[in-house]
Amino acid sequence: MYLKKQLIVTVGVFAVISLCVAATLPQQQQSLPKLVNLKVFPKNIPYRMLDHEMDVWSASLGVRCDFCHARNDQTGKMDFASDAKPEKTAARHMFLMTAKINKKFFQAGKDTLGMVMATGVNCNTCHHGVSHPEVKAPEEHHGPGGPPPGGAGAPSSGK
Ligand code: HEC
Ligand code: HEC
Repeated sequence: MYLKKQLIVTVGVFAVISLCVAATLPQQQQSLPKLVNLKVFPKNIPYRMLDHEMDVWSASLGVRCDFCHARNDQTGKMDFASDAKPEKTAARHMFLMTAKINKKFFQAGKDTLGMVMATGVNCNTCHHGVSHPEVKAPEEHHGPGGPPPGGAGAPSSGK
């Protein structure tokens, strides 16, 4: 319990620090690229915040930037504003879906035990580091003699 509390505090502190850093870093730094094709993030999102979000998405899906972003054939450089890859569109849909789930089902409220639900889902909740989470239902393990002891639906051990 104590450990869990500490973890939450630590994560919280990190979140506050990164928000502060993002807020204090001058956005008018000339070197930062302009964001020109945002359709789901706020248009005025600080570059560093977007960059951080991109790192989180990449890690959650276990991919690199080029999984969603196309390269410019002429220059050979990444063209982050391009919508050429369907994976980028898919990611926008996923973002909207995630936001909707959180808004509808995870608004800070109380569950039946009176515990505050301050959590929600994010990309990693489903993806766990893979770009294509398994959509199939787990196989049922019926042995030759019918359903396993405990009946159908009993928890099976692993795959
Ligand atoms: C899972 C897909 C995905 C991955 C992986 C990903 N991105 Fe993105 N990225 C997007 C989407 C979707 C947008 C557009 C967001 C919007 O429409 O508001 C975007 C937008 C951007 C933009 C803004 C472009 C503009 O000007 O509009 C930059 C810069 C960017 N990503 C950089 C990166 C970098 C760097 C990485 C690797 C660390 C990365 N992205 C990984 C999906 C991804
Ligand atoms: C509620 C579970 C869930 C959440 C939350 C979720 N995803 Fe997904 N995502 C899936 C599933 C399941 C698939 C595979 C769909 C399929 O194979 O037809 C998928 C597929 C994708 C794909 C398409 C991969 C491909 O190769 O075409 C992208 C990109 C993606 N997710 C990005 C994201 C991002 C970014 C987030 C967070 C903003 C996110 N997902 C949040 C369940 C989720």
